[in-house]
Amino acid sequence: MTQPVLSVRDLSVSFASDTRTVHAVDHLSYDLHAGEVLAVVGESGCGKSVTSMAVMGLLPSTAHVTGSVRLGERELAGADDRAYGRIRGKDIAMIFQEPMTSLNPVLTVGRQIGEVLRRHQGLSKKQARARAVELLGLVGIPAPAQRVDEYPHQLSGGMRQRVMIAIAVACDPTVLIADEPTTALDVTVQAGILDVLKSLRERLGTAIVLITHDLGVVADIADRVLVMYAGRPVEQAPVDELFAAPRHPYTRGLLSAVLRPGTPKERLPEIPGLVPSLDAQPDACTFAPRCARADDTCTGGRPGFKAVSADAGADAAHHAACWHPHTLQETAS
Ligand SMILES: Nc1ncnc2c1ncn2[C@@H]1O[C@H](COP(=O)(O)OP(=O)(O)OP(=O)(O)O)[C@@H](O)[C@H]1O
Ligand code: SF4
Ligand SMILES: [Mg+2]
Repeated sequence: MTQPVLSVRDLSVSFASDTRTVHAVDHLSYDLHAGEVLAVVGESGCGKSVTSMAVMGLLPSTAHVTGSVRLGERELAGADDRAYGRIRGKDIAMIFQEPMTSLNPVLTVGRQIGEVLRRHQGLSKKQARARAVELLGLVGIPAPAQRVDEYPHQLSGGMRQRVMIAIAVACDPTVLIADEPTTALDVTVQAGILDVLKSLRERLGTAIVLITHDLGVVADIADRVLVMYAGRPVEQAPVDELFAAPRHPYTRGLLSAVLRPGTPKERLPEIPGLVPSLDAQPDACTFAPRCARADDTCTGGRPGFKAVSADAGADAAHHAACWHPHTLQETAS
């Protein structure tokens, strides 16, 4: 297999205050390959955004980050703002959930797209404007030559999200991180945004990390899925295999809940029990209090994130952190 374009190894992030330490991400690893879409799913607060902000070097100084983040050959862990300034927006870019807070209300969208191009590609004002029009067309904005001179408040939520995508992909980044890019939008607009992401992947070969609560979106666009629970990775597999044969009890709970009639499709389903506090990093499976299969092994040690290859036919790319993962026979029943 080719070298990953993004490789995250043993990433941990904690936030310490006078009274407590929150372990938001706890030894997370993943690889992303060129042109691949990796979906990251998990309940609210499980560390999806903090992971992405750590990769982008955008966490506040209160965050304590350890582990490795490699973008191609470059190690980003410990990189300073100047080093990040050279790659952010150029080699790796992020789309945030709420475009209105990320766009500058007093600059036209053309100026905002153009700024990235001028900074990283040294384009003149005129060239940057022409390229901004092209990019607005690429992300599906009608009449881009007019829209380029409009301000964010003149655009709908879906159009603003497209502008965010245009800014993010202006310099053809190798990696695009999209943090719930469609959550705030209605269903038809969501479908349009997903089409834009799919065509970027196809036309430019962009590798995408897509954070979403929507398992329908996962099924539609992802190649692989990483499931997180309380800051830890619990399962990772090619998308078809994850849906057909989930091995971790948490993933199985999520997927069986989604198949229950009446479950709203746009949010990740709730499964019984409480998410554990992130104040400690127990040497145990953190899902044990909610798991029907839990035993003394589960509460006595942290399960490793391992290939589930004990069954014949199992895919080596399929990993789970569980002492007693479901067997293939069980997942078929
Ligand atoms: N700056 C911060 N200081 C302290 N704790 C933080 C900070 N940012 C995030 N956290 C905590 O880190 C944990 C993970 O948060 P994160 O935003 O990554 O969750 P998430 O998986 O993205 O959730 P959601 O699905 O709701 O967006 C949460 O407990 C959150 O309260
Ligand atoms: S390690 Fe044990 S408690 Fe944790 S998910 Fe697996 S079976 Fe359940
Ligand atoms: Mg988040």
